[in-house]
Amino acid sequence: MPLSRLLENNAAWAESAVQRDPDFFTRLQQQQAPEYLWIGCSDSRVPANEIVGLAPGELFVHRNVANIVVDTDLNCLSVLQYAIDVLGVKHVMVTGHYGCGGVRAVFDGERLGLIDKWLRHVEDVKRRHQTELALLSTDQAIDRLCELNVIEQARHVCETTIVQDAWRRGSRVAVHGWIYGLRDGLLRPLGFSAAHTDDIDAAYRTALVSPTV
Ligand code: CO
Repeated sequence: MPLSRLLENNAAWAESAVQRDPDFFTRLQQQQAPEYLWIGCSDSRVPANEIVGLAPGELFVHRNVANIVVDTDLNCLSVLQYAIDVLGVKHVMVTGHYGCGGVRAVFDGERLGLIDKWLRHVEDVKRRHQTELALLSTDQAIDRLCELNVIEQARHVCETTIVQDAWRRGSRVAVHGWIYGLRDGLLRPLGFSAAHTDDIDAAYRTALVSPTV
């Protein structure tokens, strides 16, 4: 597809948005007031807004390979801080997906280049849960590692000073772990939901034993 097609698509999209709602861009220009922060994988098959049926202005988004949240990633932490402290989002969803190339590469021990350093964080998840993973077939184990990675990263979100401080201030921002199925287009909550420091351990334990597909 030539690049010009993308610009034509864009012009058509902008026109239809105005046809549906003449004030659409005027309103968005004033401010954004999203209630949700989506932390997901960069995978092109998991377009955040489209999957949850939200319009521009309704979903704040951070995506990286394998939806990883670590304390050393200034980019992700800045998104989290801005979303919670400035925009006042009510929910943070860490959303992984089955068939994640990053997770698969870790499972297979595949070397892909610089990205291997980033994926070390998934390696940590794999090592932590190796007893459970060893009992599964390869396909099941990769699916399970996709789920476990979401649960661990959701826990990391809760443990950041950003979320900890927000909760200390009395904010009710909630953190969730979801996974998306490329096979059927469906999102499934993984049983991890926390809105208070005291919720973290229970949310983590619940998620680890929650039945999945
Ligand atoms: Co992925």
